Amino acid sequence: MRKPIIAGNWKMYRTIPEGRSLVKGVIEKLAGFDEVEVVFCPPFTCLSAVKDLIQGTSFGLGAQDVYWKEEGAFTGEISPLMLKDIGCDYVIIGHSERREHFGETDQTVNLKVKAALAAGIKPIICVGESLAQREAGETESLIKRQTELALQGVDAAAIPRIVIAYEPIWAIGTGKSAGGSDANEVIGLIRKTVAGLFGNEPAQQMRIQYGGSVKPSNIKEFMEQPEIDGALVGGASLEIESFVEIVRYETKV
Ligand code: PGA
Repeated sequence: MRKPIIAGNWKMYRTIPEGRSLVKGVIEKLAGFDEVEVVFCPPFTCLSAVKDLIQGTSFGLGAQDVYWKEEGAFTGEISPLMLKDIGCDYVIIGHSERREHFGETDQTVNLKVKAALAAGIKPIICVGESLAQREAGETESLIKRQTELALQGVDAAAIPRIVIAYEPIWAIGTGKSAGGSDANEVIGLIRKTVAGLFGNEPAQQMRIQYGGSVKPSNIKEFMEQPEIDGALVGGASLEIESFVEIVRYETKV
């Protein structure tokens, strides 16, 4: 059985005091709830403050990006060792916003995935097609390629520690989400691709999330799908109420 994982990607939002009150509120409202693994992915500047608040709890901490070298003259970059040092369990790699605005490629995603794993940090790898690619019927081939390239050279034993987030670009921050069964189909394809590369057993252990306009009103539709093991939540992770409602998707808050 794969334990569902719901991660909040705060993107470039929230100062330290704002981040603290968000995390405090979520922790308070989710006390004793452990059916879902919950991960906060704040900006780098909030990582330490969030770590202090979640110390001794089952909440996880994730960064939103990482560089692939351990250290060196790379002004502005953060290494996997530094993320480990600050207490990160996870790191988001290859988010479509980084691919679009910051020159992230399948090759740099792959370098980052391997570097994160080597440092003991679990990658949350984002894949997803644009609207034009979907309309051109390229979704399957693109997702397959992004998955294969991201995982090139990774050891099969590491696969269960990896999370993949399927995030159709046209659904991110737009209010338009994919349908549950459409997302399930693509996620099934990702699992099949991983099984083809590494064998069925690790592929069955790997968790694959859906992301893109996840809200309290549609989370259940995704979580009901057999292939979907959680969600990567952007906008709705920035407020206590909506994030908690998403995490408790089976009960009312
Ligand atoms: P959204 O973002 O939930 O605001 O659509 C998701 C993401 O970019 O990870």
